[in-house]
Amino acid sequence: MPFNTESKPVALKDTDLFKPLKVGNTTVLNRVVLPPLTRMRAHYPGNVPNRDWTLEYYDQRSKRPGTMLITEGVFPSAKAGGYDNAPGIWTEEQMVEWKKIFDKIHENESFVWPQLWVLGREADPLSLARDGLRYDSASDNVWRTKEAEEEAKKAGIEQHGITKDEIKQYIKDYVQGARNSIKCGADGIEIHAANGYLLNQFLDPVSNKRTDEYGGSIKNRACFTLEVVDALVDAIGEDKVGIRLAPYNTNGDMSGSWDPTVFAHYAYVLGKLEKRAQAGKRLAFVHIFEPRVSNPWDNEGDGAYNGGTTDYVYSIWKGVVIRTGNLAIHPEIAKEFLKQPNTLLGYGRYFISNPDLVDRLEKGLPLNLYDRPRFYAMPDKGYIDYPTYDEAIKMGWGEK
Ligand SMILES: Cc1cc2nc3c(=O)[nH]c(=O)nc-3n(C[C@H](O)[C@H](O)[C@H](O)COP(=O)(O)O)c2cc1C
Repeated sequence: MPFNTESKPVALKDTDLFKPLKVGNTTVLNRVVLPPLTRMRAHYPGNVPNRDWTLEYYDQRSKRPGTMLITEGVFPSAKAGGYDNAPGIWTEEQMVEWKKIFDKIHENESFVWPQLWVLGREADPLSLARDGLRYDSASDNVWRTKEAEEEAKKAGIEQHGITKDEIKQYIKDYVQGARNSIKCGADGIEIHAANGYLLNQFLDPVSNKRTDEYGGSIKNRACFTLEVVDALVDAIGEDKVGIRLAPYNTNGDMSGSWDPTVFAHYAYVLGKLEKRAQAGKRLAFVHIFEPRVSNPWDNEGDGAYNGGTTDYVYSIWKGVVIRTGNLAIHPEIAKEFLKQPNTLLGYGRYFISNPDLVDRLEKGLPLNLYDRPRFYAMPDKGYIDYPTYDEAIKMGWGEK
């Protein structure tokens, strides 16, 4: 893979990207964040982080001291899952591996926040049926796609709108996942309320057709997410909890804020989080998925919603904000975002292909291109074999 030549690198060393910032009870030394990136290398059965490669993967990306890493999505319980090769954090076997990984990140003087992930209707119905798990969502049989419906029917399972008791059980799962994460040494956790997964399925009227107190109004649709927030704050403390929201995301057939009422519910959730903050329970951060990438699974350039902005977040939420979405090859936008207070920037795809991304951003060095077909492929190729800048130069990359 050669260097990216599409954009001219710009050194960001004199910007706020290289100023420390307090995030929860950590102080990052730079504001570059590894956002959650599912890589599908976990062992099946057992959803165990890959014993051969995953420690190395996170080691490489935490070498620059003071960097904040959010892990790939991690299931807090078996029923939260439904992808064979994504990791969990509910068994002893999984926790042993995570502890080694978190210890390594801390040895590098960086910080780690596992992302707690519950799939809901985004799960693979075949895998759920094989393991005797329910196919959960906000509402019965509101399918994300025709294909998902056909697959589920073939697998012999129906999509199930979870009951209030089942909502409570999921909240307990989040709490257990958060406690397990802290036990393994994490600095905090990120709640995944974005990208079309279970909490997002409740937030969005496209998938939430409930008629009880968890459906209908904005207040009701936000209820599950806010209950998860409160339970986690009680369990591990507000400074160890962050949340990810994606107002413009269309993955999983979400509305993506084309509908102004959907846009409004994010303002409502942020308002509720700020209210809690002013009452003394400020979350460590809010992580916003920018409209610049409304679906990261689309090919490059597709799915960017250039008319959208999330600048409104700052007028509601006064704490730390992480903004992620196509910033690596747009340093001019990164600089613009850094003018806002308390802001960190997430770099996803280019952190996959550049283990030393922080140094490259600082110095304005060219970036390794990424190998998209290997984002989710099982081999170690495209996972731990991307070179640092010095290694790439030795290999002759960048020569005309
Ligand atoms: C391979 C891949 C896996 C991802 N996995 C997750 C995930 O587990 N959780 C999540 O919230 N977002 C996930 N995302 C979205 C990224 O966190 C990020 O927001 C997105 O790639 C846009 O940032 P970028 O333009 O810098 O790549 C994933 C994206 C990619 C490309």
